[in-house]
Amino acid sequence: MQDMKIEPYEVAEDTFVIGPWHQPPGSPVGVSLNSVVIRGEEPVIVDTGTYFNREQWLDDAFSLVDPADVRWVYLSHDDHDHVGNLRPVLDAAPNATLVTTWFMVERLSTDFELPMERMRWINDGESFRAGDRTLTAIVPPLFDSPTTRGLFDDRTGFYWAVDSFASVLANPAVEASDVDRGEWTEGFAINRMNSPWHQWLDHRKFGRHVDEVQRLGPSAIASAHGPALHGEMIDEAFRLIREVPHLEAAPLPGQVDLDAIVASVAPPAELLASA
Ligand SMILES: [Fe+2]
Ligand SMILES: [Fe+2]
Repeated sequence: MQDMKIEPYEVAEDTFVIGPWHQPPGSPVGVSLNSVVIRGEEPVIVDTGTYFNREQWLDDAFSLVDPADVRWVYLSHDDHDHVGNLRPVLDAAPNATLVTTWFMVERLSTDFELPMERMRWINDGESFRAGDRTLTAIVPPLFDSPTTRGLFDDRTGFYWAVDSFASVLANPAVEASDVDRGEWTEGFAINRMNSPWHQWLDHRKFGRHVDEVQRLGPSAIASAHGPALHGEMIDEAFRLIREVPHLEAAPLPGQVDLDAIVASVAPPAELLASA
């Protein structure tokens, strides 16, 4: 596991992206592992990062907000890279309510005992008030867990797209507009890998689902596994995501690739022989 620290950055007013850049050994590309902290009258933590990055993640989150001030912890879904620090966050932030769903709690119940009395269950399309803003759960265009809901902030126009609009890249990037357009577009193939059911989509029905998200008119989008989107990059991301039903399944690395990775990271045979 090789994670590179990325400094938290402000993606919208009082809204910060935190998380490392992760590049698996032997891989030419890497991916961000993002979460979000929204400051404001009632601070919100959106997803809780990965277990491997726990110390850094907690440092970053609590450099932005005092744990005692956190009022809401919003879970987008129960994948391991989004719930990795849930337990320590709930322990450190006793005034926080966990915003989740019945389905997530059911799926997490084999891993965590979660405090039912500290929860709100918010399904797709439902909202909750967090002080000076209304936050609405909106299912993103593509997703890799049936529990997924993104989050739209009416105060800033920020949308948390969860695993949608991801892009694997050769180097860390904060803004999609800073990345070579061809590389960013190519890296967008990760969206197909994450949602392999795209091959069986009716593009018209899918288009209407994407319309629902785009109609929010987000002014800033962060995703868990890609650089942030603003301005024309938002339009471009929606355009690309609409093409996904027409595309073939993304090719996956196989045994030949594994052999190459193992060979590239294994110590030379002569070192092993002399050990
Ligand atoms: Fe996921
Ligand atoms: Fe994810």
